[in-house]
Amino acid sequence: MSKILVTGGTGYIGSHTVVELYKAGYTPVIIDNLSNSSSKILAQIEKIIGVKPEFHQFDLCDTEQTTAFINNNPDISGIIHFAASKAVGESVQKPLKYYHNNFFSLINLLEAYQEKKINFVFSSSCTVYGEPDALPVTESAPVKRASSPYGNTKQIAEEILAESAAAYDNYNIIALRYFNPVGAHESALIGELPLGVPQNLLPFITQTAIGKREKLTVFGNDFDTPDGYCIRDFIHVVDLAKAHVAAIQLLEKGNPNGKYDVFNVGTGKGYSVLEAIKAFEKVSGKTLNYEVGPRREGDIVKVYGDVTKSSSELGWKAQLGIEEMMSSAWKWENYLKENPIE
Ligand code: WQD
Repeated sequence: MSKILVTGGTGYIGSHTVVELYKAGYTPVIIDNLSNSSSKILAQIEKIIGVKPEFHQFDLCDTEQTTAFINNNPDISGIIHFAASKAVGESVQKPLKYYHNNFFSLINLLEAYQEKKINFVFSSSCTVYGEPDALPVTESAPVKRASSPYGNTKQIAEEILAESAAAYDNYNIIALRYFNPVGAHESALIGELPLGVPQNLLPFITQTAIGKREKLTVFGNDFDTPDGYCIRDFIHVVDLAKAHVAAIQLLEKGNPNGKYDVFNVGTGKGYSVLEAIKAFEKVSGKTLNYEVGPRREGDIVKVYGDVTKSSSELGWKAQLGIEEMMSSAWKWENYLKENPIE
């Protein structure tokens, strides 16, 4: 079974991708520095797939350790690179942490593979589009000035990858531009595990509903949208994980589009924050305690993806709807209440 390196593999999207890789017949190998995740997730993954994934704990910003690992593991045929700092708000407060962590780790990986053929899937984001001029946003939409250092690291990383693929003959690369990943594995054994106060909407909703947070503050409802709330393309994390397997398979087959390619990974459907709250209330049977507060700096008003290219050329399409996203997120929050994972 070909070995696929999953950096950040104990994280939210990484752990779900490890599960789907194994189910697709691959051998996942995890590198994680555990700066934003727990090693207990390894045992949780084992409960799902029946084997404990190979795990190496070190920081990819450490050039020596990264190079040594890659040289000692010549049987790795592909990489899915999740490891990065990813909190939009924190990136505004600590830009140097974001530029250092997100670029040094990427460049160390690429340089370690300078002489070796490698299939490389990169975790990018719809933040590269900024506030799109047209919706649904397509992969050929202009990349706009990022609204945060986090978004800027994704834009510049894509440029580094595109130029590396053009200059060297050993890299075959796909960047996946995520929209808003939510939900959890159906087993409720893995899911989103925010450390501290959640930045993202869904964990804040589920933590409020279970009583861990007093109330959700909705950041504004006076936007130019049908109901006044921001609109997002929420995508189930398991669908997102499967998109990474499809990307590895396309690279193994040979991507007719060339050595660097980009795909939107969303559902193609936008829901407002209010619609998301209502969907959660419907599946959970809970009445959510929320109030509308001031807008959050840098928020995009409305974004959802055109997923035609992903469906026709990546051979992948999201299968799970908003109710499964909400019910799986709620089941995971209830699991955590009985089985805390710190
Ligand atoms: C969604 C909507 C908020 C919290 C970011 C990154 C993106 C990806 C996902 C990493 C917005 C509203 C949120 C809250 C709220 N990150 N909201 N109250 O900002 O769309 O995307 O996270 O992969 O790259 O940009 O996600 O969940 O923070 O916000 O009202 O307590 O929910 O205003 O409209 P976002 P989010």
